[in-house]
Amino acid sequence: AKITFIDPAGEQRTVQAEPGSTVMEAAIRNDIPGIDAECGGACSCATCHVYVDEQWTEKVGGPEPMEEDMLDFAYDVRPTSRLSCQIKITPELDGLVVSTPERQG
Ligand code: FES
Repeated sequence: AKITFIDPAGEQRTVQAEPGSTVMEAAIRNDIPGIDAECGGACSCATCHVYVDEQWTEKVGGPEPMEEDMLDFAYDVRPTSRLSCQIKITPELDGLVVSTPERQG
Protein backbone atom coordinates (compact mmCIF):
# COMPACT_ATOMS: atom_id res chain seq x y z
CA ALA A 1 0.00 0.00 0.00
CA LYS A 2 1.20 3.48 -0.77
CA ILE A 3 1.38 6.03 2.01
CA THR A 4 2.12 9.70 1.56
CA PHE A 5 3.67 11.77 4.33
CA ILE A 6 3.44 15.55 4.16
CA ASP A 7 5.87 17.53 6.29
CA PRO A 8 5.08 20.91 7.89
CA ALA A 9 6.69 22.69 4.91
CA GLY A 10 4.26 20.92 2.56
CA GLU A 11 6.77 18.53 1.06
CA GLN A 12 5.29 15.14 0.13
CA ARG A 13 7.01 11.80 0.34
CA THR A 14 5.26 8.65 -0.86
CA VAL A 15 6.46 5.26 0.32
CA GLN A 16 5.46 1.66 -0.20
CA ALA A 17 4.27 -0.06 2.99
CA GLU A 18 3.69 -3.72 3.73
CA PRO A 19 0.17 -4.66 4.80
CA GLY A 20 0.38 -5.84 8.41
CA SER A 21 3.08 -3.34 9.31
CA THR A 22 2.25 0.07 10.75
CA VAL A 23 2.43 3.60 9.41
CA MET A 24 5.20 4.29 11.92
CA GLU A 25 7.28 1.34 10.64
CA ALA A 26 6.84 2.54 7.06
CA ALA A 27 8.07 5.99 8.11
CA ILE A 28 11.13 4.69 9.95
CA ARG A 29 12.06 2.27 7.17
CA ASN A 30 11.95 5.06 4.64
CA ASP A 31 13.68 7.72 6.75
CA ILE A 32 10.66 9.99 6.84
CA PRO A 33 11.67 13.06 8.85
CA GLY A 34 9.55 14.11 11.81
CA ILE A 35 8.72 10.65 13.19
CA ASP A 36 10.88 9.73 16.17
CA ALA A 37 9.06 6.63 17.47
CA GLU A 38 11.25 6.43 20.55
CA CYS A 39 9.39 3.51 22.10
CA GLY A 40 9.52 1.44 18.92
CA GLY A 41 5.79 1.04 18.57
CA ALA A 42 4.67 0.18 22.09
CA CYS A 43 2.22 3.10 22.30
CA SER A 44 4.19 4.62 25.17
CA CYS A 45 6.14 7.58 23.78
CA ALA A 46 3.79 9.68 21.60
CA THR A 47 6.68 10.65 19.31
CA CYS A 48 5.16 8.99 16.27
CA HIS A 49 2.29 11.49 16.18
CA VAL A 50 0.69 12.24 12.79
CA TYR A 51 -2.42 13.97 11.47
CA VAL A 52 -4.60 11.79 9.29
CA ASP A 53 -5.81 13.54 6.13
CA GLU A 54 -9.48 14.55 6.45
CA GLN A 55 -10.44 12.27 3.56
CA TRP A 56 -9.03 9.28 5.39
CA THR A 57 -10.14 9.79 8.97
CA GLU A 58 -13.21 7.59 8.58
CA LYS A 59 -11.32 4.68 7.04
CA VAL A 60 -8.48 4.89 9.52
CA GLY A 61 -10.78 5.24 12.52
CA GLY A 62 -10.10 6.80 15.89
CA PRO A 63 -7.63 5.95 18.62
CA GLU A 64 -8.13 3.20 21.18
CA PRO A 65 -8.40 4.41 24.81
CA MET A 66 -4.74 3.62 25.54
CA GLU A 67 -3.62 5.57 22.50
CA GLU A 68 -5.89 8.44 23.43
CA ASP A 69 -4.25 8.68 26.86
CA MET A 70 -0.83 8.67 25.23
CA LEU A 71 -1.85 11.37 22.76
CA ASP A 72 -2.21 13.75 25.71
CA PHE A 73 1.59 13.87 25.70
CA ALA A 74 1.86 14.77 22.03
CA TYR A 75 2.44 18.32 20.77
CA ASP A 76 -0.41 20.27 19.11
CA VAL A 77 -3.02 17.50 19.18
CA ARG A 78 -5.96 17.92 16.80
CA PRO A 79 -9.14 15.91 16.16
CA THR A 80 -7.33 14.05 13.36
CA SER A 81 -4.31 13.14 15.52
CA ARG A 82 -3.18 9.52 15.73
CA LEU A 83 -0.10 7.70 16.88
CA SER A 84 1.25 6.21 13.69
CA CYS A 85 2.46 3.02 15.38
CA GLN A 86 -1.16 2.25 16.12
CA ILE A 87 -2.31 2.51 12.51
CA LYS A 88 -2.08 -0.90 10.88
CA ILE A 89 -1.65 -0.90 7.14
CA THR A 90 -4.36 -2.75 5.26
CA PRO A 91 -4.98 -2.90 1.51
CA GLU A 92 -7.88 -0.48 2.03
CA LEU A 93 -5.47 2.13 3.26
CA ASP A 94 -3.65 2.23 -0.08
CA GLY A 95 -3.17 5.91 -0.88
CA LEU A 96 -3.35 7.04 2.74
CA VAL A 97 -2.15 10.58 3.39
CA VAL A 98 -0.86 11.75 6.77
CA SER A 99 0.93 14.91 7.86
CA THR A 100 3.73 15.12 10.36
CA PRO A 101 3.53 17.76 13.10
CA GLU A 102 5.87 20.71 13.61
CA ARG A 103 7.69 18.67 16.23
CA GLN A 104 7.25 15.55 18.38
CA GLY A 105 6.75 15.65 22.15
FE1 FES B 1 5.98 5.19 20.58
FE2 FES B 1 4.18 5.13 18.65
S1 FES B 1 6.26 4.67 18.53
S2 FES B 1 3.87 5.63 20.72
